[in-house]
Amino acid sequence: MRSIQIIFLLSILFLFASCQKDDSTSTDTNITDINEIDPNGNGNNLPGGTVNNNSMVSLGRLLFWDPILSGEKDVACATCHHPDFGYADGRELPMGVGGQGLGPARIDAVNDDIEVGGRNTPTIINTAFNGISANGNIDPAQAPMFWDNRLRSLEAQALGPLLSFEEMRGHAFNENVALDSIVNRLSNIGQYNTLFTAAFGTNNSITSTNIGSAIAAFERTIIATDSPFDQFQAGNQNALTQAQIRGMDRFEDIGCDDCHSGPMFSDFELHVVGVPDNNLLATSDAGANGSYAFRTPTLRNLGETGPYFHNGVGGNLQETIQFYITARNFARGNGGGGGNGGGGNNGLNVNPNVNQNDIDNDVRNLQNFNNNDIQDIIAFIQALDDPGFDRTIPATVPSGLNPGGNID
Ligand code: HEC
Ligand code: HEC
Repeated sequence: MRSIQIIFLLSILFLFASCQKDDSTSTDTNITDINEIDPNGNGNNLPGGTVNNNSMVSLGRLLFWDPILSGEKDVACATCHHPDFGYADGRELPMGVGGQGLGPARIDAVNDDIEVGGRNTPTIINTAFNGISANGNIDPAQAPMFWDNRLRSLEAQALGPLLSFEEMRGHAFNENVALDSIVNRLSNIGQYNTLFTAAFGTNNSITSTNIGSAIAAFERTIIATDSPFDQFQAGNQNALTQAQIRGMDRFEDIGCDDCHSGPMFSDFELHVVGVPDNNLLATSDAGANGSYAFRTPTLRNLGETGPYFHNGVGGNLQETIQFYITARNFARGNGGGGGNGGGGNNGLNVNPNVNQNDIDNDVRNLQNFNNNDIQDIIAFIQALDDPGFDRTIPATVPSGLNPGGNID
């Protein structure tokens, strides 16, 4: 199964090698060994230094679902990264501590000071491939994380939500003792002692580093690379509709693939596109280092991971792609900015804090496109959906708490 997926990936790489006519920097593909795109990076350079094994993966799955990792024992990773919403949450902005329910139906059940988070929840599907180069290399230790690439590796990322006040920590403990407190909690649960020993080969191996390693090992198994597009690349000419093939061509000709490149349809780089702020938030989100740049997201599995953009203001694919016409025109001095004009028809306007010259050249240089193109591109993006990813929900977790936290 795994090797089949890798072969699909390989064929995508060759497609991009052949079609990236206008992007000479990423054309030197040199893949001789399919293990170059093992989701585990061949086991080389895994932060934590431990080779992944099945015991780590099954432990990581339980940790991912167990709200014992949150301060008030009400939120798990899966609260916001749930398979029913493509391992995202279907919300513009996430709701962690104090919430009740799942996805868009989740409400603030406790009258506390904890509101929604500041950024849209990205999927964890295919995050094993974050940072993959056009020629298929992945370096797990350097894999960029978050909308602004501020952290590297799934291992390091996994400890972040435990420390975050709104996401999981809440009022239960201070940030400086949060990880120790969670390690203590797990150490008092017999089943976790057994599972960590099996996964890491020694007693007393419940450490925050190993929590991160186990969760990361699990996340690297949540991959979805058998979409109709992948099947088409593998030689099944009937896998794509005519509209999807037209959309694929337009996507390349218009220049979307200048940033949405490579096997994940992302260069994993930061770009200023000019997405407007979400009015639910009190302050403007200025992105990476205050530059209003955000990372190019993958375009895989968007059918299940909306709404879109770093703050969920792209309500659907039509509105999201339409915004590029506005941003392109604005970058060329043809309106679309300053909070009015250019968007039209209730479309999104360019963020008033972003200047014309700040917009990325790859947006400015997009070819002209119209609503027919958008329909075809949407059809193409739908061909990047692979609903066949692992949706397993554990029946129980070792703490005895509800798997996924307060999501019922
Ligand atoms: C309250 C909702 C919430 C919870 C709980 C949560 N996350 Fe997230 N997750 C987010 C949001 C929002 C982001 C993006 C934040 C940003 O970019 O600044 C994110 C980002 C990520 C990313 C980076 C994805 C990428 O492509 O950059 C990973 C991986 C991830 N979370 C895994 C986890 C794990 C593991 C846990 C549990 C330990 C967890 N999350 C708990 C909402 C949540
Ligand atoms: C300059 C690089 C660049 C170009 C060119 C570009 N994009 Fe993007 N794309 C991005 C970035 C960066 C984001 C995230 C912006 C944000 O959230 O603030 C994004 C977000 C998206 C999203 C939302 C995905 C999600 O999960 O939220 C879609 C859909 C999308 N782009 C499609 C397209 C299409 C279609 C084109 C061509 C018309 C295109 N992009 C051209 C960089 C680019």
